Amino acid sequence: MSDNETEAGIGPTGVPLEATPESDTEVCSREGHLAASQEALLRADEVVAGYLPGVSILNGTDLYANEGELVGIIGPNGAGKSTLLKAMFGLVGITSGKVTLRGKEITNRKAHQLVPLGVGFVPQTNNVFAALTVEENLEMGVFLRPKAFKKRFEFVTDLFPILGERRAQRAGSLSGGERQMVAMGRALMMEPSVLLLDEPSAGLSPAMQDEVFFNTKQINQTGVTVVMVEQNARRCLQICDRGYVLDQGRSAYTGPGASLIDDPKVVELYLGTLGKAR
Ligand SMILES: Nc1ncnc2c1ncn2[C@@H]1O[C@H](COP(=O)(O)OP(=O)(O)OP(=O)(O)O)[C@@H](O)[C@H]1O
Ligand SMILES: [Mg+2]
Repeated sequence: MSDNETEAGIGPTGVPLEATPESDTEVCSREGHLAASQEALLRADEVVAGYLPGVSILNGTDLYANEGELVGIIGPNGAGKSTLLKAMFGLVGITSGKVTLRGKEITNRKAHQLVPLGVGFVPQTNNVFAALTVEENLEMGVFLRPKAFKKRFEFVTDLFPILGERRAQRAGSLSGGERQMVAMGRALMMEPSVLLLDEPSAGLSPAMQDEVFFNTKQINQTGVTVVMVEQNARRCLQICDRGYVLDQGRSAYTGPGASLIDDPKVVELYLGTLGKAR
């Protein structure tokens, strides 16, 4: 066991952890991660990363996503959820640990190197070019492979027909939900194998949030592996195959989405009112 690991039975918050009996929820352990992640499409192993020298935000995070999976990451504010996505996408430096894609190490590869390898990322904010039209936004997504534009535009507008209807409209004049579709569509233009989504439902009306979760599931059903961070824990866990609860820069619990949302310890310790808000 490395220094970064959670001691058996003690959670990162110092609270004793025990998986609830009869639940498929597991306390995250290095052994459990290693046993389950061998065939993963994308995995993070003992990742330590942060923004300032000597201050780590991720403290040995393990995570994996199998091909075709929809994986959710939930946890309190400041837990490091966005940092984890950014570290896997080369936007935050990793000081130790590694990230692998299809078994090939990609630790600290930059975003522009990861996109052609099949990794897409949709940040939470500022994720569209407001002054450009919908079509121009989608063109930007595929600028590395302009010949693919027509085929991918068809794919994205089949998935989100409204983007086809609004192709000439400036992205800045769209509703929040439509903008989120543009952002996801742009990432899909490069035909990613895995899409990293940071809080796609944030700031949207409940109806639009439902639409975003539906769209995310739809994207996943086209065969794209999805790793999604969400504040809307219940909705996220409802649609995901497997979830992680991140706490203080470490994966604390994992399990099927439905088990996590029903696990009283997870709800009580990590989700608080978010988890109870049914
Ligand atoms: N650019 C930055 N520079 C310095 N510290 C940062 C930066 N971005 C985030 N942090 C710090 O890293 C920690 C984790 O932030 P992060 O954004 O990963 O959390 P999060 O789990 O995504 O939270 P939220 O639910 O609020 O989005 C926080 O303490 C935050 O203040
Ligand atoms: Mg965040």
